[in-house]
Amino acid sequence: IQETLALQQQVTQDASIDLATIPGCDPTTNPLDIFKLRIASQLAKVTQIAPEVIYRAIDIPRQLDHGDFALALPRLRVKGNPAQLAKEWAAAFVQTDDYILGATPVGPFLNYRINTRLLIKHTIELASARVEAYGGNASGAGKKAIVEFSSPNIAKPFHAGHLRSTIIGSFIRNVYAANGWEVIAMNYLGDWGKQYGLLAIGFSRHGDESKLQQDPIKHLYDVYVQINRDAEEEPTIHDEARAYFKKMEDGDETALALWRRFRDLSIVKYQEVYGRLNIEFDVYSGESQVTKGMEEAMAMLQSTGLLQESQGAKVIDLEKYKLGVSVVQKSDGTTLYITRDIGAAKERFEKYKFDKMIYVVAAQQDLHLKQLFKTLELMGFEWADRVEHVNFGMVQGMSTRKGTVVFLEDILDEAQEVMHDQMRKNEAKYAEIPEPLRVADEIGISGVKIQDNAARRVKNYAFDRNRMFSFEGDTGPYIQYAHARLCSIERKSGLKVKLDADTNLLTEEGALNIMRTVAQYPDLVKSLMNAYEPCNVVTFAFNLSHEISAVFDTLWVRGADPAVADARLLMYWCARVTLGNAMRLLGLRPLERM
Ligand code: ARG
Repeated sequence: IQETLALQQQVTQDASIDLATIPGCDPTTNPLDIFKLRIASQLAKVTQIAPEVIYRAIDIPRQLDHGDFALALPRLRVKGNPAQLAKEWAAAFVQTDDYILGATPVGPFLNYRINTRLLIKHTIELASARVEAYGGNASGAGKKAIVEFSSPNIAKPFHAGHLRSTIIGSFIRNVYAANGWEVIAMNYLGDWGKQYGLLAIGFSRHGDESKLQQDPIKHLYDVYVQINRDAEEEPTIHDEARAYFKKMEDGDETALALWRRFRDLSIVKYQEVYGRLNIEFDVYSGESQVTKGMEEAMAMLQSTGLLQESQGAKVIDLEKYKLGVSVVQKSDGTTLYITRDIGAAKERFEKYKFDKMIYVVAAQQDLHLKQLFKTLELMGFEWADRVEHVNFGMVQGMSTRKGTVVFLEDILDEAQEVMHDQMRKNEAKYAEIPEPLRVADEIGISGVKIQDNAARRVKNYAFDRNRMFSFEGDTGPYIQYAHARLCSIERKSGLKVKLDADTNLLTEEGALNIMRTVAQYPDLVKSLMNAYEPCNVVTFAFNLSHEISAVFDTLWVRGADPAVADARLLMYWCARVTLGNAMRLLGLRPLERM
């Protein structure tokens, strides 16, 4: 902390500006802010525009010949001709320190040139002081978010929608944590409803205790399929199931005990698979856990006049908002999915007092969540504007090689096998890998996750195993490979990373590109809070990986002049730390060998 404070003083002194005046600007975690702060403070003096307004309008141009930073004047919303103003302001620019070297007007833009040496110096300072925390910031300190994701249904397949929710949800969890929030990762299991009555009856006919112990998820699914098949011929099974579920809702201990075993065993199994995927939940909640909140919510709905009777059922009319009518209680008095969601939201706020709650659920449930959110708003909860739905498109054609229903584990096993075969092709290298099966598993999972996050969330995509598991092109294995290669450079150099290496020796364009990209990582992490798009991190990781592989064969460490070797090693180290952090944000475990 002291180091950070010293750094903070150092970077703000010359700019003579109070940090607190620019929200979101943090030169102690973000090297670009060291420069933006100066640009904003200088220009603010000339123009009398608030520094934060200027700060927010500073971007990194796509092409370097447009400057290191560009200010788009129209974004300042000031009167006058932007191109004319750009000229005037450029003329008023005075170089006051070594940081900002010049300002050039180009149309409505003001392009700034900075001292790249200082950018590299500060970037290395921050990256080496923060290492795994590099990229993160403390903007969310003191705030709490619940991210609800994955939420599979017991006894039903964990389908592609759940997988996407799991991958995207854990990413959002990581993004919030990286932005300084306290985050609660919550799994809201589908574990309540008539189908658990059906499952219990199915188990009494087809259940097998040892299979249940061995693989509860698969076995319960099989039982569920069989009982549904039975029920096609004996429709009375459905009445039995309803009666059984009614017993559960009435708190009958025997009925609940069986259900609880199904639930507990399933959770143990889920945890195993989540662990494999590098995902952890703080809370396993579920529809079954909503109790008091639901009754209270029903009472509130009643007293606020939001409930209406419709053929014995209770409904909320949301036609006015073009959200249809949502049924919250059936004519037999039982509750529904949405009723439990209303109750759950209320309970969660009372328990956690969240500042933000995010539901990561497939776009198929857009209407459901809109109805939920509208209802919470109409109920007058002051926190109703803190909830948000993060949706995503469908995965087409996700099936196992054998076809039909997919179990997530089968996909992961297959991915692992493909990777393992691939690895064994290079026997010498294979022999050096300590836990080849674990590494193969990790590469396979990287393939699955990167494919899932390659495009914007809302896009549907086709499950493509050939593409996903390829080591070439923009795939998960490729990113892992780039990381492992960086580790191997460090290992093979026989040198220790020296943080005080002379980075002025990094002169090649390729080296500067890498360092510029590394410098942009904290800005990326901050920006992720606006749209929660994992593809932005995937793009970043690919860019960095490409920049790294572009210099591997020319910028050697071993064999270079010692001072140059130190500088390059430090550059590779920074790249490795940053790539590793981006990978972790995406939920990958960066590999050191593969
Ligand atoms: N279990 C649900 C399903 O598989 C997803 C739950 C989404 N979360 C919620 N709060 N409704 O469709």
